[in-house]
Amino acid sequence: MTAPFAGASAAPSPAPAPAPAADREPVTVLGLGPIGTALTDALLRAGHPVTVWNRTAAKAADVAARGARTAPTAAAALAASPVAVVALADYAALASVLSGVDLGGRTLVNLASGTPAEAAAASADATARGAAYLDGAIMVPPHVIGGPDSVVLYSGPGAVFDAHREVLDALGGPRHLGADPGLAVLQNTALLGLMYATVTGFLHAAALTGTAGVRVEEFADLAVGWFLPSVVHPIITAAAPDVDRGRFPGAQGTLEMNRTALEHVIGAGDERGIDSSLPRALADLAARAAARGHGGDNFMSVLDPLRSPEA
Ligand SMILES: NC(=O)c1ccc[n+]([C@@H]2O[C@H](COP(=O)([O-])OP(=O)(O)OC[C@H]3O[C@@H](n4cnc5c(N)ncnc54)[C@H](OP(=O)(O)O)[C@@H]3O)[C@@H](O)[C@H]2O)c1
Repeated sequence: MTAPFAGASAAPSPAPAPAPAADREPVTVLGLGPIGTALTDALLRAGHPVTVWNRTAAKAADVAARGARTAPTAAAALAASPVAVVALADYAALASVLSGVDLGGRTLVNLASGTPAEAAAASADATARGAAYLDGAIMVPPHVIGGPDSVVLYSGPGAVFDAHREVLDALGGPRHLGADPGLAVLQNTALLGLMYATVTGFLHAAALTGTAGVRVEEFADLAVGWFLPSVVHPIITAAAPDVDRGRFPGAQGTLEMNRTALEHVIGAGDERGIDSSLPRALADLAARAAARGHGGDNFMSVLDPLRSPEA
């Protein structure tokens, strides 16, 4: 999904881009890291005339050889196209690059990672300077961009999303989440948190089973091939409607039962000499939910202290 797990597959060599099509909207790409380069290649493949700019100019050589035009400054790059896709490292880089540049009449599609407040501030700044602004979050590694498995989340005015739909289609899998500009990065960070918690939970489990010589590949088959889809997925999807209503019925298993199970996870880890800080953090959360009277509810009631830690 993002950088730490993006290295599993090597990027294939991009195919030579076709000549730009006369009916395709010209697009500017600011930033030529792995993401900006992949976005540029996807746009070239779709026949868009593409102008690129990168702080370190030498990084533009490869996409220039594949048909992109290079601009000497960010201002010149922005002036070359009605719409600019921004693939800089973060919102601070965006503010720095756009400082003092005329944005009047342009559309910015900013795909840098960040927080909802940063997205809202960037949207307000661009709009005040006469630009249309769409925020976005790339959910796939660079080599997937523009392909059938690409997913890019967008938020901001629906009219801006619709007006540049052809450009967004070229990047692959556009999903508009709503008018609030912070929605794309909010859902992106939520999914990243889920990814890190899931991967770390798997690695804790692999460390525990590894003390008996179980290979990670063998355990992955049990954990990811069966347990997550057949046990964890149904638990979450069955409980979600009740959770939305604030209900945590404990008829099938209570928080107290799960607190005991967590003590066994911690105990087994301690017996085997592995780090049990992850299940200890979960046990602490469950204890705080129990202290609020959720002992007879189900485990989903840990949402209470997650939502309002200070209550
Ligand atoms: N890589 C992934 O797998 C992945 C996946 C999903 C989302 N993302 C997000 O997509 C965005 C781009 O990712 P990336 O991997 O391409 O990032 P990156 O290589 O770290 O940075 C992209 C570009 O930002 C430029 N930059 C950084 N600070 C700058 C500044 N102060 N002024 C001007 N330019 C500046 C860099 O220019 P220089 O070349 O001059 O250093 C570079 O070309 C990030 O927000 C990232 O979190 C990445």
